[in-house]
Amino acid sequence: MLGRVNHIAIAVPDLAAAVAAYRDTLGASVSAPQALPEHGVTVVFVELPNTKVELLEPLGGDSPIAAFLEKNPSGGMHHICYEVADIIAARDRLTATGARVLGNGEPKIGAHGKPVLFLHPKDFFGTLIELEQV
Ligand code: CO
Repeated sequence: MLGRVNHIAIAVPDLAAAVAAYRDTLGASVSAPQALPEHGVTVVFVELPNTKVELLEPLGGDSPIAAFLEKNPSGGMHHICYEVADIIAARDRLTATGARVLGNGEPKIGAHGKPVLFLHPKDFFGTLIELEQV
C-alpha cells in the first residue's frame, strides 16, 4: 500500500534560523518560504535527492503545530508522509483494521494540492503519519 516517502515534516519555532541551519550549515537546497494560511503554517521545502524535508513554522492563532511546539519548544519531527496510489482504498483498509484516521475521515487537499489523510500517532508507534495520494 505504501509508496515513496513524500516528505518528512519538522516543526520549528524559528523558520529563519531553521533555513540558515539547513542551507548554510548542512549545505542543502532550500526553497523560499510559502505561507499557507489554510493550513496554519509557513513552510520551506528542503530538496534532497530522494525526498524532501518540510520545515513548518506556525502561522496564525490556531496553528495545528502550536501545541506540538509547546511540548517541544526547540522543534522536532512532526510527521512523515507516505505516498499511496488510492487514498480511499488505503483509508478503508486502515479503518477496517481499527486504525484511527484523524478528523472526519475524509481526505483534505494538502499543501501540495493532493488529497491527504492523517493517521493517529498512537496507532503507529508515536509517529503522526500523513498519506498523500499521488
Ligand atoms: Co506533510
